[in-house]
Amino acid sequence: MTQLNFKRHRRLRSSATMRSMVKETYLHKEDLIYPIFVMDGENIKNPVKSMPGVFQFSLDKLGEEIDEVVSLGIPSVILFGIPAEKDAVGTGAFHDHGIVQEATRFIKERHPELLVIADTCLCEFTDHGHCGVVEGEKILNDPSLDVLARTAVSQAKAGADIIAPSNMMDGFVAAIRVALDEAGFEDVPIMSYAVKYASGYYGPFREAAEGAPKFGDRKTYQMDPANRLEAFREAESDIEEGADFLIVKPALSYLDIIRDVRNNYHLPIVAYNVSGEYAMIKAAAQNGWIEEKPVVLETLLGMKRAGADLILTYHAKDVARWLEEK
Ligand code: PBG
Ligand code: ZN
Repeated sequence: MTQLNFKRHRRLRSSATMRSMVKETYLHKEDLIYPIFVMDGENIKNPVKSMPGVFQFSLDKLGEEIDEVVSLGIPSVILFGIPAEKDAVGTGAFHDHGIVQEATRFIKERHPELLVIADTCLCEFTDHGHCGVVEGEKILNDPSLDVLARTAVSQAKAGADIIAPSNMMDGFVAAIRVALDEAGFEDVPIMSYAVKYASGYYGPFREAAEGAPKFGDRKTYQMDPANRLEAFREAESDIEEGADFLIVKPALSYLDIIRDVRNNYHLPIVAYNVSGEYAMIKAAAQNGWIEEKPVVLETLLGMKRAGADLILTYHAKDVARWLEEK
């Protein structure tokens, strides 16, 4: 018989122990950031319809949720606020007793070791739902920077450990860095939404955060999904301006971009596994069309394999539980 010449890759897959010895990528609880929606008001724990398992919380109902996050070993949360009242400039965003500021104080008092990341944007706080100040139908860049900087400083004052600006105005990292430094917060890092695409996958989030734009869309400030080189430009300028972490968002349709950013820059990378990505898996799992646990773990592992260090995900509590199982 002719001798076939081939490689036996299956040797390294022959048992669970063998497979564990050659495993290249891991998910850890330490990788997880859990998003929480906090709302002005009392006695509120509203389920978000398009995101099963996710709720809007008033502060009096937030304690249990936070205790659970801590007991699961998740090291950090990111806060999104829904104010009682909205106005043209988004005053609620930078009010010292705004919902995110109060939630930050509440959490840091209850669990000082839990790291609080404050999302810094205006869309949940403006009556028009855009991430910056508007004039007519135009989203103004430079006037938005002042408001964002004030917001970041008030969040840091409330005790936020990390500032995470998601607004996509040009120069937001520079403006926020200077303002934080001037206010004495030179040790507070900036986790920049450096590479953020104008995505259809944000739909469920806009229901959860009640921040959908009332006119137009976000395409004049968020990136075109067709573009790759633009991601390099965005990452580069944020690094120059003083970013400490880079977020790539969404994650699933942009794994190539995560890899590009990993290969070219040296800051910690956060993959934002966004609301629409979560909703798709939840819906399919609820229909019995896929098995939730293996699909979620495979999805998040893909983000790590692409080069992400951290994953911001609504699946975080489930994942922390599953990682504990064996
Ligand atoms: C708002 C913001 C959005 C998300 C995070 N911050 C939505 C948007 O830009 O319209 C999306 C998060 C998600 O979909 O999970 N600046
Ligand atoms: Zn916004």
